Formats: sequence, structure tokens, C-alpha cells
Amino acid sequence: MITNKTILITGGAGFIGSNLCEKFLQQNNHVRCLDNLATGLYSNIQPFLSNPLFTWIEGDVRDLNTCLEAAQGADMICHQAALGSVPRSVAEPLRSHDSNVTGFLNILEAAKAAKIKRVVYASSSSVYGDSPELPKQEDKIGRPISPYAVTKLTDELYAHAYGLLYPLELIGLRYFNVFGKRQRPDGPYAAVVPKFIALMLKGEAPEIHGTGSQSRDFTYIANVLQANELALSTTNPAALNTVYNVACGSRTTVLELFEGLRNVLCVYKPELSDMKPFFAPSRAGDVPHSLASISKISTLLGYQPTHTFEQGLADAIVWYKDNHG
Ligand SMILES: NC(=O)c1ccc[n+]([C@@H]2O[C@H](COP(=O)([O-])OP(=O)(O)OC[C@H]3O[C@@H](n4cnc5c(N)ncnc54)[C@H](O)[C@@H]3O)[C@@H](O)[C@H]2O)c1
Repeated sequence: MITNKTILITGGAGFIGSNLCEKFLQQNNHVRCLDNLATGLYSNIQPFLSNPLFTWIEGDVRDLNTCLEAAQGADMICHQAALGSVPRSVAEPLRSHDSNVTGFLNILEAAKAAKIKRVVYASSSSVYGDSPELPKQEDKIGRPISPYAVTKLTDELYAHAYGLLYPLELIGLRYFNVFGKRQRPDGPYAAVVPKFIALMLKGEAPEIHGTGSQSRDFTYIANVLQANELALSTTNPAALNTVYNVACGSRTTVLELFEGLRNVLCVYKPELSDMKPFFAPSRAGDVPHSLASISKISTLLGYQPTHTFEQGLADAIVWYKDNHG
């Protein structure tokens, strides 16, 4: 368990970042949260503001000086700040590049300047690109098929080079479709799980892109928090300067997701029992199937998912019912 450290969490007002802030505050760490609120919410960090261990820095990782100041005196960096979403990157590639690549480089420079060794950063399953191979293994990637994937792969390449050239311990975590509390259900780039839950709680049928046969290794937030803590604290030299899949190791189609949600939500809203989804054309840049091998992270970091997809979904539904129902 990480305790009594000072951790800079970028993107800490976002979904994953705010859950990380909460976890590390609970474990008695000083948490510095750097976020420009591009997609994150002030309300996500509001509960932490009264905690003397928490420092809120409203700022942008695209600004090197902001990163240099935020990193001074920190023990480690947990870098989550980025503009997520494949469709957003297709619509706005320059903006995605600035936040996701320039922002990441600034954080690496800040780590160097502040003599912080350990930097754990959010990569993405999108780096597997056009590789049809399943399950996805870390050393067998294809070519990226979206600007978003290019940004995350570029981050991994920079991390590799920085790990060779400078005294840094860099670990990239390739998240696979994370879901859980505080993930935004609104907006054009909302992820499928919160979007479906929020719509169905309102009695509205969701729209499925394509046939619904596309599959994802949906990963509950608790598993992602575990992976970050393991990566930030590992003392295994073989585990450093590399990348890991963070997932459950099982996949669910989007149609199964819809049906699973309908079955669970029927308990609260019986009228959903005969709900049918709408179907719309597939979206450019989306990969058809995604399933992770989690053997590398299990072997080198000791990761064991605590929540299956179904367990996580049950917890997430309770949160959305209380907060968006
Ligand atoms: N959620 C997923 O399924 C998933 C999957 C793969 C990778 N990721 C990656 O995980 C990280 C966290 O994602 P999330 O789902 O919590 O998304 P999110 O949008 O909720 O969080 C990202 C946070 O970064 C902040 N941010 C964006 N640009 C910034 C900038 N220039 N300066 C400072 N802050 C900035 C946003 O305001 C937001 O609070 C991202 O790097 C994302 O690419 C997420």
C-alpha cells in the first residue's frame, strides 16, 4: 500500500483521476491534482477540497511551466490527463495531439527536472490498432487506426526512449474500456457503459453503432486503481520501463452489454423488459474486437482483478441510479 507520499495526479478531476485521488487520499498520501477541466468536473474533486492532504491545481499539461511547478517536491506522478475518445480525435486531431502528446512530454520533462523517478501513465488498448490477434499481448501491436491511438502509441515510444536515456522509471498502463462511478454519461463522446445506463434509467433506448457484435474487455475502475497502485509502488526492476494491459481478460459484446443492463435495470424499472436498442452505422476508427491477455501484469506486478465485468456493472448501476437516476 502506498502511504505518506506526495503524488501528482494529472487529469485528477476526470473519471479515473478522481477515483485515484480518492484512493490515495484515503491511504494518507498528499495528493496534488492538476487538471484544466477540459472534460473533468470540479464537482469530482469538490469533496476533497477540505482535506489538508489535497492540493488543487487548475492548470494545463500543455504548459511546461505549470507541469514543472506542479511536480516540484512530488515523489511520483500518476499521469491521466488526456483528451479521451476515438471519435473526438477524428474530429479534432490537433487538439488531441496537444493534450495527449505535448502534455505527456511536458510531464516527462517535469519529472526529470524534479528528479522524480516513477511516472505511471495512462495508455490505451487502442494502440493495438489493426491487429486482429486476440487476446492482445503487449508485444504484438498493429498499426493505429485513429489519431487518439497514434497519440497513445507516441506516448509509449517517448516513454521507451526517456526510460533508456534518463533516470526515469516509466510504466504505461493500457486501459481497456474502463467503467465505474464518476464516468460522464453525457456529451457526444461519452463512453458506452455510462451512456447506456443513464439513457436506460431515463427509459430511453440507446443507439448501437454497427451490429452490436463488436466486443470489449470492459474493466471496472477498482481493477484500474489496483493496477496504478502496483505500478507506482513496484520494486521489481524487471517490471519497469514497459507497458501493461489493464483489463479483466474477458470480453462482452455491445449487444450483450445492452441485454445485461436491461436484465439488471428491469428490477428498478419493469417497463424496460421489452426495450430494444436502435442501430446506427459503425463509427470510423473503432476497433471490432478487444480482449486483453493479463498474464504480463499478473506475473510482473501481481495484478489480480477484484471485480468481474458483471460485479463491476452491478456496483456502477447503483452509483448511476443514485446520481443520475
Ligand atoms: N476510460 C477509459 O476507458 C480509458 C481507456 C483507455 C485509456 N484511457 C485514458 O485514461 C486517462 C483518463 O481517462 P478518463 O476516462 O478518466 O477520462 P476523463 O476525460 O474523465 O479524464 C481526463 C482528465 O484529463 C483532463 N485533461 C484533459 N486535457 C488536459 C490538459 N491539457 N491539461 C490538464 N488536464 C487535462 C480532463 O479535464 C479530465 O479531467 C486518459 O489518459 C485516457 O486517455 C481511458
